Amino acid sequence: PPVQNLLNMDEIEELATKKVSKKAWAYYYSAADDKITKRFNTEAFRSILLRPRVFIDCTECSLETNLLGNQVSMPIYVSPAAQARLGHPSGEAGIAEACGSFGALQIISNSASMTPEQIVANAVPGQTFGWQLYVQDDRAKSEKMIARVNKLSAIKFLVLTLDTPVMGKREDDQRSGNVIDEITEIEAPPGSKEALEKQVFAGMDPSLTWTKTLAWLEKHTTLPIVLKGIQTHEDAYIAGLHRSRVKGIILSNHGGRSLDTSPPAVHTLLEMRKYCPEVFDKVEVWIDGGVRRGTDVVKALCLGAKGVGIGRPPLWGLAAGGVDGVKRTLQILADETKTCMRLLGVQRLDQLGMQHINTRILEQQ
Ligand code: FNR
Repeated sequence: PPVQNLLNMDEIEELATKKVSKKAWAYYYSAADDKITKRFNTEAFRSILLRPRVFIDCTECSLETNLLGNQVSMPIYVSPAAQARLGHPSGEAGIAEACGSFGALQIISNSASMTPEQIVANAVPGQTFGWQLYVQDDRAKSEKMIARVNKLSAIKFLVLTLDTPVMGKREDDQRSGNVIDEITEIEAPPGSKEALEKQVFAGMDPSLTWTKTLAWLEKHTTLPIVLKGIQTHEDAYIAGLHRSRVKGIILSNHGGRSLDTSPPAVHTLLEMRKYCPEVFDKVEVWIDGGVRRGTDVVKALCLGAKGVGIGRPPLWGLAAGGVDGVKRTLQILADETKTCMRLLGVQRLDQLGMQHINTRILEQQ
């Protein structure tokens, strides 16, 4: 079927699955151990109930918002994900083209299958990117990458991923023989193999710490720093203490790919509301993991998230239909989010709040 006929994320995933190699499927699908966190990520959203209000004019409805000072058309952004060219030759640049046409924000992975220069090359005016860093044990390699990223004006902030000091155990990948370096070599677009080899991480540095690593990073960039992979209220609180350096946090369990049975982001949002609500005023709080419906987006916003990331859906969209597939993915989620807002009796995102949800079931889990 043409991608325009696809109605939801499940149908996009199904078509993508038919189109990609076994190896690509395993890489996109896989999660750690028994995939309990991956499953909980979607289920947690389903256990939150919505509380629609009636008799409210919802003729107007806007998804526009601001993420770290950047005007965007919607709170839904593309999470950093490696190896987009495994699914489709247009790769991360294809995702960028789709995001550009929507005014959506995209975070580029440190392990992208194209260079950041290639990915932002055709950015439209005002298009916004972040760049995600895995600090490598060969520090000089990371420093060189940061220096390259500093020069790209479309890249507005740096995302430091912290939930992967070591790789989670991903059995689908082990079975299909996936090795990140190997995939990059196979999938690198013509002429970029050498540049890519310089960027793909050879070894993760597991020795990162709050004070030491943030001070190091600050020496190499003036870009705002966002910490990705925060999963407890304790770490959210510590991030808030570092607000002179840290401008945002992303509550994320890496789509269930790192530590199995770690909590879905909505649980961490609830914890934060209870134990350190002041952090929402100190740093911007974004979430990702398991977002598959507009109602999921709205629920995260009601709990206090400002940005809502999607990891696998854009990869599926790309695999299912290239740039048009990613556009379809964004269109469906944006439309669903607007429908949900209207049915709740809301015109703007800043009107959403705890009054629109019932978290009783979630809190019992
Ligand atoms: C990821 N993710 C990820 N995160 C990151 O910080 N750097 C990376 O290179 C990658 N690579 C990556 C590859 C693939 C194939 C997936 C599925 C995920 C994690 C990603 O940013 C995000 O946290 C999750 O994907 C969100 O969950 P959903 O939307 O996939 O359920």
